[in-house]
Amino acid sequence: MRVPFVDLQTTHQDLYQELDQAIRGVMTRGDFVLGQEVHAFEQEFAAYCGSPFGVGVDSGLSALELGLRAFGIGPGDEVIVPSHTFIATAAAVTFVGATPVLVDVEGQSYNLDGSQVEAAITPRTRAIIPVHLYGLPADMDGIMQLADKHDLVVIEDASQAHGATYKGQRVGCLGHAAAFSFYPTKNLGAAGDAGMLVTGNAEAAERVRAMGNVGQRVKYHHELPPFNHRLDTLQAALLRVKLRYLEGWTESRRQNAALYGELLQGSDLVIPVETPGCKHVYHLYVVRTPERDRLQAHLQEHGVSTAIHYPVPVHLQPFYAGNGFHQGQFPVTERLCGEILSLPMFPGMTAEQVEYVAARVLEC
Ligand SMILES: Cc1ncc(COP(=O)(O)O)c(C=O)c1O
Repeated sequence: MRVPFVDLQTTHQDLYQELDQAIRGVMTRGDFVLGQEVHAFEQEFAAYCGSPFGVGVDSGLSALELGLRAFGIGPGDEVIVPSHTFIATAAAVTFVGATPVLVDVEGQSYNLDGSQVEAAITPRTRAIIPVHLYGLPADMDGIMQLADKHDLVVIEDASQAHGATYKGQRVGCLGHAAAFSFYPTKNLGAAGDAGMLVTGNAEAAERVRAMGNVGQRVKYHHELPPFNHRLDTLQAALLRVKLRYLEGWTESRRQNAALYGELLQGSDLVIPVETPGCKHVYHLYVVRTPERDRLQAHLQEHGVSTAIHYPVPVHLQPFYAGNGFHQGQFPVTERLCGEILSLPMFPGMTAEQVEYVAARVLEC
């Protein structure tokens, strides 16, 4: 048997007719830039998150960057981000001219923990970006308490966690704003790059909208930095169709995660935890073992594709060389990078496929 890491064809197989219709609608109307599907998707996705405003943009990275700018964060400011995340979380901070202050993650959830964040707060700290990594919400109560105490802005990086819940509320409405990525392999993925900034702050939403649309509120009057980070109408039309399937896909991911958990119990692997009060949406199913490289090679030999999220931590990336970071600075993150392995996980993955992967893991 061959088990791909992700199989988008399986995910999409029942949707082709609806997707075709959505494309045809846009092609017929010709409203390719900021068309009616963008507006409709913004409203539907923000409502799905339980948040009043959504502004479509061209990627998750743009959502983070414009979100920071909308709250006035820039040169001289510090923004706390987890050291174990995709580079975009820290890069957005760097791009606005602020300093990303990395904080090591907690060793079970792999997320920021409020109790570890406080020590990193200085008089220059303006914001925290908790990442709901792999689909598991971060400690939002702890983080929001700190934010209230120190008057900080919280922008959730929800790029991997569409539909995940924290104490019954969906991510996206827990902080002051949230950035989502609709990169094709995300739980809700476009046919290319796309993203959204979701917020309850009307002024921030309006600023993101204007900045992403060449800084204009009135056509050809450019008051704000004139970026072009608009969400394409075609992507919005496809995402609207796919949003209707998201809850079912999440259920499929959760069932497969439960089956993996059952089958891998008793092995030496550390399997993902679901923090009490949280609903994990398993964007990635990440296991841990000191024998990671041997396990990955064994699975590859037996037709199972895996991946590592992420093999090199943010602070040791060449892009950040010269920023004063050093090896050994974030021990949990560094250990994770050497031990984590993402097993195949996608909606529509069959029980037979999960059983096959688990059997190959156990025999290694
Ligand atoms: C945690 C996290 N933040 C930000 C991003 C950036 O999203 P995009 O690739 O849409 O720019 C991603 C996407 O990979 C991500 O996983």
